[in-house]
Amino acid sequence: MIFIAVGTPQSPDGSADLSAIKSVVSSLGTIGTNALIVTKSTVPVGTLQKIKQWSGLKRVASNPEFLREGNAVSDFLNPDRIVIGVEDQKDAELLKTLYKKINAPIIVIKPESAELSKYVSNSMLALRLSFMNEIASLCEDFNADIKEVESVVGSDKRIGNKFLQSSAGFGGSCFPKDVRALEASVKSIGRETKLISPIIEVNELQAKYFVDSVEKHIGNLNGATLAVWGLAFKQGTDDVRESPAIRIIKYLIQRGAKVKAFDPQAMEFAKQEIGDEIEFCEDMSSAIAEAKTLLVLTAWPEFLQASWEDVLASLETNLIFDAKNYLPHDELHQIGFDVVGVGLWRMH
Ligand code: UGA
Repeated sequence: MIFIAVGTPQSPDGSADLSAIKSVVSSLGTIGTNALIVTKSTVPVGTLQKIKQWSGLKRVASNPEFLREGNAVSDFLNPDRIVIGVEDQKDAELLKTLYKKINAPIIVIKPESAELSKYVSNSMLALRLSFMNEIASLCEDFNADIKEVESVVGSDKRIGNKFLQSSAGFGGSCFPKDVRALEASVKSIGRETKLISPIIEVNELQAKYFVDSVEKHIGNLNGATLAVWGLAFKQGTDDVRESPAIRIIKYLIQRGAKVKAFDPQAMEFAKQEIGDEIEFCEDMSSAIAEAKTLLVLTAWPEFLQASWEDVLASLETNLIFDAKNYLPHDELHQIGFDVVGVGLWRMH
């Protein structure tokens, strides 16, 4: 078995760029002759057929991965399911031998269904998040609280409580890219969908709404110095690809704010992404020095260890913005902070 696990980044038109796949299969030569070629990479429906054309090889299978960044090893060893997409049952039996020590259901399906399932899984999770985020953006006008709504909706076993947490948007190298690639696949077959593109539109709007909310509370951002904790798209990674934090910072800069930022791991990649447009600080306390307010944009556990009295004393205002709805809001209120989250009810 030969596994292909190369990247399939986004092309300018949103489709998956398959050039790395093409390059590796074209270079297989005779080592592929008797092998089963297995794609682990996330590839659009029909890629296995293209691999056959590019390589001249006949035995191909799809075996998509569902690993999360930062949890890859445990997700690999404890998957919800193993998906095997094959044209020939014998190939399924061969692939199953690889996974015999992993205790998980194995779903054997058509290659096209396997290829599509990976995109549908990521897009379904992204759809849930965008739906909850859109509801969160309405909560203030409804005088409702998204956390309370989330607890009710998530306790319905048919819905479940995972991937419901609203925020100022989701990010990473997978959800946005895969949703766009699914949309591009649909277009490539001459069809239209109504549900897929709003997933991304809603997600990108969340960052704007968040910055609108900062402006509403602290006034004109032009010339204001703002502290930012968190640049990575999620905690536990140094990855800033499609990070909501970067999206938010770009809006802040556009509106004239001066940003002082710190992230425990993602500083280097963030520097490559936003260069010298903001000040990168050595630690949490230097970021808040002389800042008007603090925006927490990634749910790093280390931020929860902050000495909040010192943070309050350092900031010019008592406002703090929580883009992930994960700070200890009650505790912060007691200390004297006015905490603004995403779709959370606040006493005025
Ligand atoms: C995602 C999928 O979860 C994996 O199953 C998949 O294999 C992977 O993409 C991939 O295609 O390679 P990952 O991008 O590492 O994994 O990140 P997640 O942990 O899924 O989080 C994605 C985004 O959703 C993050 O920005 C996170 O903060 C956000 N999120 C997650 C929320 O806003 N709310 C939630 O309740 C959960």
